[in-house]
Amino acid sequence: MQYTERVKRLESEGAFVVLAKAKAMEREGKSIIHLQIGEPDFDTPANITEAAIKAMRDGHTHYAPSGGIPEARKVCAEYLNRTRNINIGAEHTIIMPGAKPFLFCSLIGLINEGDEVIVPNPGYPTYRSIVRFVGATPVPVQLKEENDFRFSIDEFRSLITPKTKMVILNSPGNPTGGVLTWEDLEQIYFEAKRHDLWILSDEIYSRLVYEGEFRSIAMIPGAMDRSIIMDGMSKTYAMTGWRLGFAAMPKELAGYFFTLAINNFSSTCTFSQYAMIEALTGPQDDVNKMVAEFTRRRKVIVDGLNGIEGIECQNPQGAFYVFPNISGTGLKSQEFADMMLDQGGVACLSGTAFGEYGEGYARFSYANSIENIEEALKRIKNVLAGVPKT
Ligand SMILES: Cc1ncc(COP(=O)(O)O)c(C=O)c1O
Repeated sequence: MQYTERVKRLESEGAFVVLAKAKAMEREGKSIIHLQIGEPDFDTPANITEAAIKAMRDGHTHYAPSGGIPEARKVCAEYLNRTRNINIGAEHTIIMPGAKPFLFCSLIGLINEGDEVIVPNPGYPTYRSIVRFVGATPVPVQLKEENDFRFSIDEFRSLITPKTKMVILNSPGNPTGGVLTWEDLEQIYFEAKRHDLWILSDEIYSRLVYEGEFRSIAMIPGAMDRSIIMDGMSKTYAMTGWRLGFAAMPKELAGYFFTLAINNFSSTCTFSQYAMIEALTGPQDDVNKMVAEFTRRRKVIVDGLNGIEGIECQNPQGAFYVFPNISGTGLKSQEFADMMLDQGGVACLSGTAFGEYGEGYARFSYANSIENIEEALKRIKNVLAGVPKT
């Protein structure tokens, strides 16, 4: 079978690869603790599920307008206005099946072959995969541990060339949990404006911030003219399977996204969108409970990892991942991750699944119970006890 060169440039996602391996091991009777997963382990809040059931019963089981049902787009605009302190109308928003399709559409629509796109590294692998898919070059900007997993603005500036067309931001970030400061955002915007760059800001973890307040680049006056602000329901509302994402962008661009949607998937699931309206406008108690529980788990996993010889773990400021430095174990990242799964039954990801600057690190998700996290910590310690000291 012959695939196109374009498709061959697409990469897989480490989390899905490890999940498949871990599931196969479970089928063989092995006990696995899943810390590779990027999804909340909580149920979708009941009021949201009920709203979807009601929508189905009311007959909302047909195609929806391609950019999203008008009421849902209005609710998304109001939510973004509330949470980013901006003032946009529904015509600036588009709803798609997850946040991910916005990455595809933005890059297909705005990036030409030969262009360069600055991407965080270690960062969400889909960014560089899709940049390559469209024939452009992903230019990694390093997120440094000593800089709380933010990139240095000087380095960012030095990477901009006449070919640079876009910078992708992800704050709070996957896999590090790092959060960009207000000063970072101001300087990034300053450079983006000066060099006429698009800003694609992936804010899927916007509600999972544990220290200080969430800040979006959209909050900077003028930034919305050159930004696509992506968010979605997967992480905040434990709705990964519902496939719901939304984004704000300049009005003309929204029109183009509408056409892409028509040509690609026609429309986002109609009753899911009714559930989204309930999620964004209804009570937020369940979200607050989930954030409180993630905060507790974060402490357990950070303290536990720091108690293991060879591992040093920073306190991540957001998302639900820790990205410990494992270089003190003497193992390479991939070796570490394989050993944890094969010998300890702990599924985690090698830092290198997120780019070359992830060497020396591993990613653990704490979207799992405290009990399981504690058991995983014991197993990690046991596996490492068997590794000869170098
Ligand atoms: C940084 C980042 N962006 C986007 C996504 C995709 O989210 P969605 O489920 O809304 O497509 C993920 C999921 O893991 C993510 O970590």
